[in-house]
Amino acid sequence: MRTQVGIIGAGPAGLLLSHLLHLRGISSVVLEKRSREYVERRVRAGVLEQGTVDTLVEAGVGERMSREGLPHHGIELRYGGAGHRIPFEKLVPGRAITVYGQQEVVKDLIAARLAAGGDVRFEVEDVAVHSLESEPYVTFGGERLDCDVIAGCDGFHGVSRPSVPEGVLSVFEREYPFAWLGILARVAPSSEELIYARTERGFALHSMRSPTVSRFYLQVPADARLEDWPDERIWAELKERLETVPGFELATGEITERGITPMRAFVTEPMQYGHLYLAGDAAHIVPPTGAKGLNLAVADVRVLTEALAAYFRDGSAELLDGYSEACLKRVWRAQHFSWWMTTLLHTFEEDDPYARRLQLSYLDYVTSSEAAATTLAENYVGLP
Ligand code: FAD
Ligand code: PHB
Repeated sequence: MRTQVGIIGAGPAGLLLSHLLHLRGISSVVLEKRSREYVERRVRAGVLEQGTVDTLVEAGVGERMSREGLPHHGIELRYGGAGHRIPFEKLVPGRAITVYGQQEVVKDLIAARLAAGGDVRFEVEDVAVHSLESEPYVTFGGERLDCDVIAGCDGFHGVSRPSVPEGVLSVFEREYPFAWLGILARVAPSSEELIYARTERGFALHSMRSPTVSRFYLQVPADARLEDWPDERIWAELKERLETVPGFELATGEITERGITPMRAFVTEPMQYGHLYLAGDAAHIVPPTGAKGLNLAVADVRVLTEALAAYFRDGSAELLDGYSEACLKRVWRAQHFSWWMTTLLHTFEEDDPYARRLQLSYLDYVTSSEAAATTLAENYVGLP
């Protein structure tokens, strides 16, 4: 079997790449180890930058998102007994975010690929990439896929990145001493906008998916286990951390999904080797506080599509050669922003009372200085 681009992984990166390549007349095969149901149900990100929304709309896969997605023009930072709104419409006019679940993006992309006769294979076993320096190919479940180029879109735990010979990639990483416990609940959001709450008990985030579904996260210890967090404890802790301003009451409901995500940052440089190109979480991850992971994956794929289009159109490898460099600037900006948001809002065990005062003082600055708030707003909605 032969295709132009062998894509490993049917997450947002792999599916969008396959779709954008199809629009350019470039063939691809997507190989995914999980089932279609699994990837369509995997609850993760929810915040789409303007650039991500524009990309999906321009690619013809934004119809349901435009109908069901929730445009947001601000977020709230809540701490010290008060809420402080960061007004995007004032600080970064014309730019906003859209709240639309990642699994809905994935569903829309799978539907588009299948409607166009795309080759997306689920539940494939033992995917391995070979001969990355020349004439690359992929093996899976006893089959062989020859391709011109391989796109490693298989997330942080995939097989693509570890296939690069030792010593080629430089890795930069940081593990945070806490995790996020995330839930999805059948209850109307208690606030119209996202609330990022910093308390002495730890961080909490109030988000949403629709007018009837809310999404919440709690900072928990890195070794926290779901069995230690029954529903009542989750709701009690969310109330402790969110009901900190007069008159705010948190509505509760049936919890329909729950999970614990470690907080980690990771970048590999370069994001390519031979005929292998890494995109999305396969190349970099950020702590979710800045809501950047999915958006970075989309940005990588935009760059890779242009580079592959030039390569297959006139054999020019210039853009492909510069792929990594073109992506890494945005990647590192997002790394810094995610680190900044994380340190601004979480409690760190090693922090002494002095460090906690510094954090509060910085929050006061961010919420009272227009320049500082603009820095937050322009990074949050995403750089062009
Ligand atoms: P993935 O979504 O991880 O997809 C990789 C795919 O490859 C998967 O389907 C996997 O099954 C498959 N795969 C893995 N190994 C193999 C193999 N060996 N063979 C074949 N297939 C394989 N980002 C934001 O932008 N905004 C947010 O609000 C946000 N919130 C988040 C909240 C949480 C709780 C989490 C966990 C993440 C959040 N993120 C957010 C990050 C975002 O979800 C990821 O950055 C995004 O999923 C990256 O997409 P991807 O396609 O690169 O990787
Ligand atoms: C989400 O709604 O899942 C979400 C929102 C904001 C974040 C992370 C996740 O920073």
